[in-house]
Amino acid sequence: MLNFSFQNTTKILFGEGQIKAISKAIPADARILVTYGGGSIKKNGVYDQLTAALSEHTWFEFSGIEPNPSYEQLMKALASIQEHDIDYLLAVGGGSVVDGTKFIAAAALFEGDDPWDFVAAGKPIKRALPLGCILTLPATGSESNTGAVVTRDGNKLPFSSPLVRPLFAVLDPAVTLSLSDRQISNGVVDAFAHTMEQYLTYNVNGKVQDRFAEGLLLTLIEEGPKALNEKTKNDISVRGNIMWAATMALNGLIGAGVPQDWSTHMIAHELTGSHGIDHARTLSIVLPAVMKVCAEAKRDKILQYAERVWNVTEGDETTRIQKAIELTEQFFEKMQVPTRLSHVDLAKTDIDHLIEKLTQHGMVKLGEHRNITPDVSRKILSTAL
Ligand code: NZQ
Ligand code: ZN
Repeated sequence: MLNFSFQNTTKILFGEGQIKAISKAIPADARILVTYGGGSIKKNGVYDQLTAALSEHTWFEFSGIEPNPSYEQLMKALASIQEHDIDYLLAVGGGSVVDGTKFIAAAALFEGDDPWDFVAAGKPIKRALPLGCILTLPATGSESNTGAVVTRDGNKLPFSSPLVRPLFAVLDPAVTLSLSDRQISNGVVDAFAHTMEQYLTYNVNGKVQDRFAEGLLLTLIEEGPKALNEKTKNDISVRGNIMWAATMALNGLIGAGVPQDWSTHMIAHELTGSHGIDHARTLSIVLPAVMKVCAEAKRDKILQYAERVWNVTEGDETTRIQKAIELTEQFFEKMQVPTRLSHVDLAKTDIDHLIEKLTQHGMVKLGEHRNITPDVSRKILSTAL
């Protein structure tokens, strides 16, 4: 196992009815800006619950944070923060709202000219407003991690700072019942990809990390399809297991002390940045292709994955690797997400532009061995056609 330091300070408030716990989780004298997206929280009762919970607090609101949040929209929140002397942020929504609110938290106290500099130019984040969140879509892990992804002019870029890790996260599985099938699929597939990208590298004998990761993958494979099935989709325990799995998949635990390979995410971000495809639906296209192109470098781990996650034990190594990739694709198909570029109407002629953007964004040495160059990324995208 590699050396690591691990600290996750987000307080998790899990379970039905937990939204009311925010009344104690947020200091009584805070001046809060509640941030949210396009209004789903007004239709599913979440807004009413938070209004009741904050009845003794001073709060204002900022709405309109879009899926794949944009710099332009997020910057508008800074005026409200100044006007109302805000000192606490409460993000209410999916990963986009939480990510966007992380950006707002750091942008509000940024000392340079343009907050985009801490995203694109690597300027340090020295201070940020405190934030908490009520998560309504299990997927990204943003509710208890330090990362966020923001888009400006088609450039979708990640940033990270411990200063933007939420202080608390309410995980009430009941609020996910209003998600569409498409959003639930997206969430399960995103969490699956996060787990794979911290698991499917090379063996460092990180037994705890491996078995935690395999447990998460098995949970998502078991519960994901149930959340799409008419008979089981409203089962709160199904929703709860998916929600907790998604949080655990990217809260730093399974990735501590093991190599990581975020090439799928980095290549996939270009598909969203240039073509507006949902985040998870880019991952389900890129991940199987990464497995195929990098099968040799990942051989031992794919074989372990084949056996422990899919019970594939028959045949020679090459056959078992192929079978594991096939089963992964079949799982994505069951979750109703695309697995080929052609499924989202992209073709060979689109690849040049994607490689150009990847290069422009400095994503030229990806993977656990840092050997996924633009040429290898091209091969991955060509394999995904
Ligand atoms: O905006 P509203 O009206 O709330 O509607 C949202 C949005 O349209 C809707 N929704 C959310 N909760 C709902 C609901 N509709 C009904 N009932 C509910 N309970 O779902 C739509 C999609 O929401 P979004 O937040 O965009 O989805 P998700 O949670 O998948 O977040 C995706 C974003 O997170 C980034 C992605 O790149 C993407 O921008 N990621 C962030 C990561 C991180 N911070 O660590 C890691 C991930 O890999 C990912 O890159
Ligand atoms: Zn993701």
